[in-house]
Amino acid sequence: MNFLSGKHIVVGVCGSIAGYKSAELVRLARAAGARVRVVMTPSAGEFVGARTFQALSGEPVWQHWSDDRSGMDHIELARWADRILVAPATADRVARLAEGRADDLLGAICLASQAPLLIAPAMNQAMWQHPATQENLARLRQRGVHICGPAEGEQACGEVGPGRMLEPATLVQSLVDSFRSGVLAGLKVVVTAGPTREAIDPVRYLSNRSSGKMGYAVAAAAREAGAEVTLVSGPVALAPPPGVALRRVESAEEMLAATLPLARECDIFIAAAAVADFRPSTPAASKLKRQAGGRSLALEPAADVLAGVAALPQAPFCIGFAAETDDLERQAQMKRISKGVDMIAANLVGPGLGFDSDENSLLLVWEGGQTRLEKDTKTRLATRLIECAAQRFRARQATKESHAKHTTESTR
Ligand code: CTP
Repeated sequence: MNFLSGKHIVVGVCGSIAGYKSAELVRLARAAGARVRVVMTPSAGEFVGARTFQALSGEPVWQHWSDDRSGMDHIELARWADRILVAPATADRVARLAEGRADDLLGAICLASQAPLLIAPAMNQAMWQHPATQENLARLRQRGVHICGPAEGEQACGEVGPGRMLEPATLVQSLVDSFRSGVLAGLKVVVTAGPTREAIDPVRYLSNRSSGKMGYAVAAAAREAGAEVTLVSGPVALAPPPGVALRRVESAEEMLAATLPLARECDIFIAAAAVADFRPSTPAASKLKRQAGGRSLALEPAADVLAGVAALPQAPFCIGFAAETDDLERQAQMKRISKGVDMIAANLVGPGLGFDSDENSLLLVWEGGQTRLEKDTKTRLATRLIECAAQRFRARQATKESHAKHTTESTR
């Protein structure tokens, strides 16, 4: 399942016999949809070759400072990473990380990155139990580093005890779990995504360039945040995110019909679909023939899904998207008010941004506030959008509850 779809994982491999398991770890993380870049310490190469990791990750491998081709690769990798997983982490690496050293590439990347750090220790049981190692681990834990394992059992040195690196599948699960925030736990979320198709005749339609990537990323992020998510999607070439219920539709009208009953039961509605604004007034019942010559197409407004949901008597918290070419802040606030929604996620459309791109930037606006999400991958933007949506949703709930309390008290 694609539980790590769109995620960027740096895997740090240190010099340990457990390094052979890291090859499988890289393979499994990729199979789960992640992009993986491997950074080896110089001694890791004595156990597993860089080419193994290069082939399995499909990316270059960094091992020595001389591999830092731009002189800034370590900073770029630090920024690129959504998570850093050091596996195996030797006793020496645990000590270096605790000290915050940057005298090799892996140390520098860990120090320069704001991404959460996970480590999977692998060492002799006496080294693991040594007070020095335990003190170093305590320091790392205190800084929020997630220590995965180790497992107990027979060791390569013949001793028995704690210090075996966790199995690759368990480590991939730790990565998946590290993205689960729970900020939407217990809530129902409905997301629309992709384009719609408005029939001209049985074989032709009006549509647009929406890839659905943003809506699918938002649905995945809402699921990661613990929500029960339904995705109502127009035709796209994307696999549905794991754990998300999918309803496929074609036209704006079908999208509205599928969405309204779901929206009545949900807490948050996010309209990321690029729904057609117009549709042919009278689609032909049979194929229009070329021989009939030039013709003009009469259009009428298509169903407005977002407006339909926002007008429900017990409307959920509604978030709309807006693609604008100028004056983003004012246009976004105007659209929020005219559509009667709680939040608008607006972006400027232009070359390399918006449709069909993996990157975007967003301005989130709500009544009395806004926040700017700078250019980033759609996956990361979706996570930040969901975090902000969760905050605004809770703020609206709190206001509603205090109004209700006030009304009850004043009618006593
Ligand atoms: N939307 C919708 N149904 C439509 C059109 C739009 O649900 N028929 C939703 C989109 O999913 C998006 C928001 O409305 O969340 C804004 O869409 P946009 O096309 O930018 O707004 P319009 O009202 O069509 O205004 P404009 O004149 O700027 O195109």
